Amino acid sequence: MEIKNLCVIGAGIMGSGIAQLTASFGYNVNLVDISDQILKNVKKSIEINLERFFVAKNKLTKEEANKILHRIRLYTNKEEAVKDVQMVIEAVFEEMELKQQLFSELDNLCNNNVILASNTSSLSISDIALNSKFKERIIGIHFFNPAPVMKLIELIKGKKTSNEVVEKSKNFSESLNKTVVVVNDSPGFVTSRLIYVLCNEAIDLFKKGIASAEDIDKACKLAFNFPMGPIELSDLVGNDIYYHIGQYLEKELGQKYQPSILLQEMVESGLLGRKTGKGFYKY
Ligand code: CAA
Ligand code: NAD
Repeated sequence: MEIKNLCVIGAGIMGSGIAQLTASFGYNVNLVDISDQILKNVKKSIEINLERFFVAKNKLTKEEANKILHRIRLYTNKEEAVKDVQMVIEAVFEEMELKQQLFSELDNLCNNNVILASNTSSLSISDIALNSKFKERIIGIHFFNPAPVMKLIELIKGKKTSNEVVEKSKNFSESLNKTVVVVNDSPGFVTSRLIYVLCNEAIDLFKKGIASAEDIDKACKLAFNFPMGPIELSDLVGNDIYYHIGQYLEKELGQKYQPSILLQEMVESGLLGRKTGKGFYKY
């Protein structure tokens, strides 16, 4: 079954980026979130992105940008949003129970040939699929932030994911001009297990007064040629996301992954990073 219509569930940082990206490559996207207001704000911000990053740079005409925008339809009702789609991409909060609940609902709402993908950063795909009847169609399609820009997609093969679903997801990812790596299911997969450790250590160095956040970021950018330092990266991703990843990795893999106390304090104070206007830096 050719993939033409998608449903993206969760219109936060990642869901909105995935919607922008996939609509830009010609897919029709039904974007779902819990309130009309969130969805309207997101559509406006996608419109602004298309203007700023494409129309203003003469990469797209205004008309082409409008066509992309019109391919994105907004829904608060999942049942309506998954009708006639060939793939669902879930991008809700990084919480196992929420994702498990969502995937078992989707089980009943979608035909068995619809691919069900999670954009989770770290949670086991096999566990997300635990309550589902058709586990073979569940896969991790891990995009990176900002989704329209970053070149990698990490595909995560759950214990029961079929080779056919991996192959179709690979073709889909490549149709978005991304490069794919396929990895086996394991907490944090490859990329999040590595980058979380770096960001968490950087936050701990800052907490212990070894250097300022600015100097830690500057050091990493210049020493390692990173485009962004680890503390500003944590603000970009969302400090809550790294905190949840850390808690999960600690539970599954051991104490060495324990989140820094400062990361916990930031989350408890609502200093989540760019999305709340304040994190380690102000935006
Ligand atoms: N939509 C489309 N294009 C965009 C865009 C968007 N939302 N944001 C930026 N761009 C484009 C710009 O138009 C620009 O394109 P050109 O070079 O063709 O002109 C390019 O991206 C670079 O953007 P800017 O010049 O505005 O900014 P920059 O050079 O400072 O780059 C950045 C910004 C791409 C975010 C860069 O700082 C970067 O790569 N940072 C690291 C990001 C990273 O590591 N992401 C992964 C995080 S981990 C993760 O996502 C996984 C997880 O599970 C947590
Ligand atoms: P976010 O907090 O920005 O957005 C999550 C969105 O999901 C919110 O708009 C929320 O209203 C919506 N939502 C929550 N429950 C819902 C439900 N039941 N139905 C519909 N919508 C619901 O989060 P995010 O940063 O976009 O992360 C989303 C997922 O992507 C997480 O699993 C995260 O680990 C993963 N991820 C994040 C990044 C990143 O850099 N932020 C990168 C790759 C993967």
